[in-house]
Amino acid sequence: ELAKSIKIEEDASLPQAKLIKLRDTVANRSHRVRVKGWVHRLRTQGKSLMFVVLRDGTGFLQCVLNDKLCQTYDAITLTRESTIEVFGTLKLVPEGKTAPDGHELIVDYWKVIHKAPGGLDAFENKFNTESDPSVLLDQRHLVLREDKTTKILKLRSAILFAFRQHFFENGYFEVTPPCLVQTQVEGGSTLFHLQYYGQPAYLTQSSQLYLEAACPALGDVFCIQESFRAEKSSTRRHLSEYTHLEAECPFISFDQLLDRLEFLITDVVDRITTGPFKEMFYEMNPGFVAPKKPFRRMRYVEAIQWLNEHGVLKKDDDGNEVGPFEFGDDIPEAPERLMTDTINEPIMLCEFPAEIKSFYMPRCSHDNRVTESVDILMPGVGEIVGGSMRIWDLQELMAGYKREEIDPSPYYWFTDQRKYGSYPHGGYGLGVERFLAWLLNLDHVRETCLFPRHYGRPCQP
Ligand code: 4AD
Repeated sequence: ELAKSIKIEEDASLPQAKLIKLRDTVANRSHRVRVKGWVHRLRTQGKSLMFVVLRDGTGFLQCVLNDKLCQTYDAITLTRESTIEVFGTLKLVPEGKTAPDGHELIVDYWKVIHKAPGGLDAFENKFNTESDPSVLLDQRHLVLREDKTTKILKLRSAILFAFRQHFFENGYFEVTPPCLVQTQVEGGSTLFHLQYYGQPAYLTQSSQLYLEAACPALGDVFCIQESFRAEKSSTRRHLSEYTHLEAECPFISFDQLLDRLEFLITDVVDRITTGPFKEMFYEMNPGFVAPKKPFRRMRYVEAIQWLNEHGVLKKDDDGNEVGPFEFGDDIPEAPERLMTDTINEPIMLCEFPAEIKSFYMPRCSHDNRVTESVDILMPGVGEIVGGSMRIWDLQELMAGYKREEIDPSPYYWFTDQRKYGSYPHGGYGLGVERFLAWLLNLDHVRETCLFPRHYGRPCQP
């Protein structure tokens, strides 16, 4: 009741307060400003001092509220995640104290824009960071506001920008292929089926075929597009929807494809570790050591040999060991991870057997059993890139469809590329979430998504 009788007003004799964003506080030191944002942290000290850490997405600011300013009804009932507008003067923090950017706002007036609930429904009661992962995922819309998640999402944005810079500075055009498709790229077992005006269709698994069609028009091309995989397994690196960065390059050789991949990864790492987000990056991953060129290149047959020499055995579906790996076997996630983590450096695993790869991969001239293909394996995550040269001979492509039991008719437009000015070319797809999990040293790819989609979770929030 007493608090309700305490009223505050803006002092009209003070200089006009300029509305700023929190990223611009340093430039506005000693000026009177006003800022709008969310109450990130809240602490009262006695009856006449209150500290509010304000957040507006661009930064953080410690606001100091004295006397009447922290005795009003609104002040006493203020909750975390409420939105407020704060007026005051930006001052350096006293010696020995720390605050974001080394200063604080000495508040002279403030008002509530919207009050978040308190009590049982208060923000801090909706989840805590030790909660069961499924609780955190149900509350993802609120978890996003927590420091770690916010940082990951900011770094994700910076990394996507770095990828785009790399491509634009190297003469690539960006295209935006469709997600609704009627052709598969990476095998029928992971397709999401849907009805497209009464016709069967899928959500895209890869934009590769469209990038290949764009090359004769635009030269080197790339896209950053969602891909979809119905992966009925819960692992740290499988999502049902992920951001797929793909590129396609005309008139290159397999070796040049590998060089381009190495350049892409080292260049983007360099942009992040030296760019405007470098401090945030090293805060997330203090022990990071940038990989050096050239990456270790290893052939599939050598990987099989490595597994055999290290006594790693093949397992059946029930997890029983059934004997050594042989040429032609798919290398599953667990042994692949074991090898990569043991070697503990990026590996470009090349020349996979044709039978375990997609219809479009050409065979090597020196060994007809294997293809000009590459996976890049990173310690801690495993495969982050899949790429290859593409079959550019029409008859070979027809044989590829046949081997994989694909009806060529919906692929007429893809097949046409081998009739109208065919050309040697290659490309790759990089899983953005896996790249981030590697770079930021995260346990699970879902930590890098705004709203993750994976097996065992509903499509919301
Ligand atoms: O190896 P993949 O299946 O290759 C392709 O889709 C090619 N058509 C790409 C191309 O050449 N243009 O997938 C490429 C990458 C993988 O290395 C992995 O990083 C990521 O996409 N990826 C996934 N990421 C998260 N969840 C999943 N379920 C993924 N499946 C693939």
